[in-house]
Amino acid sequence: MKIIVAITGASGAIYGYSLIRSLHQLGIDTYIIATEAGQKVMAYECGISPEELSNYGTVYSNADLFAPVASGSFKTDGMAVIPCSMNTLGAMAGGIGDTLLSRAAGVMLKEKRRLVIVPRETPLHLIHLENMLRLARAGADIMPAAPGFYNRPTQIWELVNFMNARVLDAFGIEHSLMKRWGEG
Ligand SMILES: Cc1cc2nc3c(=O)[nH]c(=O)nc-3n(C[C@H](O)[C@H](O)[C@H](O)COP(=O)(O)O)c2cc1C
Repeated sequence: MKIIVAITGASGAIYGYSLIRSLHQLGIDTYIIATEAGQKVMAYECGISPEELSNYGTVYSNADLFAPVASGSFKTDGMAVIPCSMNTLGAMAGGIGDTLLSRAAGVMLKEKRRLVIVPRETPLHLIHLENMLRLARAGADIMPAAPGFYNRPTQIWELVNFMNARVLDAFGIEHSLMKRWGEG
């Protein structure tokens, strides 16, 4: 499988970082785009440098519109934008394609491939909500960074794994990141 993971400047960089590590462990080809704000927030929240991302996949600059993932002819199995800022959400909802991230997201929608969006903001104003609705109508999966607590988590990584488990589920990727409801 080939999955694109985009990390933006919303809080919760750990979700994106953990997802690319999981995909790498599962042997899935991963193409990584981190926005400038995404790189800064990841360094601030997690102490992780942009260079470290290349340990887990092929990293493209968000300015590189010549990258393979900018074209629908380059076959991938989907894309996750995790965490997704309201800025990037607005760009995707507006059909804008002036960065590699927004272009690749548009490619997912036009090629009818899976686009998983993990927005992070609170509270949400009307335009945020309308942008999510617009993207959902265009075929994206909106999966807010809102982990469940029914497995009684006590550690941050359990909350992170909960979200990433649902993202992997959306792509149909087998994993053992969380205990499923109803399992012993
Ligand atoms: C520490 C920090 C946390 C932020 N958290 C959020 C957030 O949770 N959601 C959001 O939409 N923007 C958040 N922002 C603002 C975005 O980083 C900002 O809008 C930026 O332009 C997003 O750019 P991008 O979409 O290209 O990554 C945060 C900024 C900082 C510095």
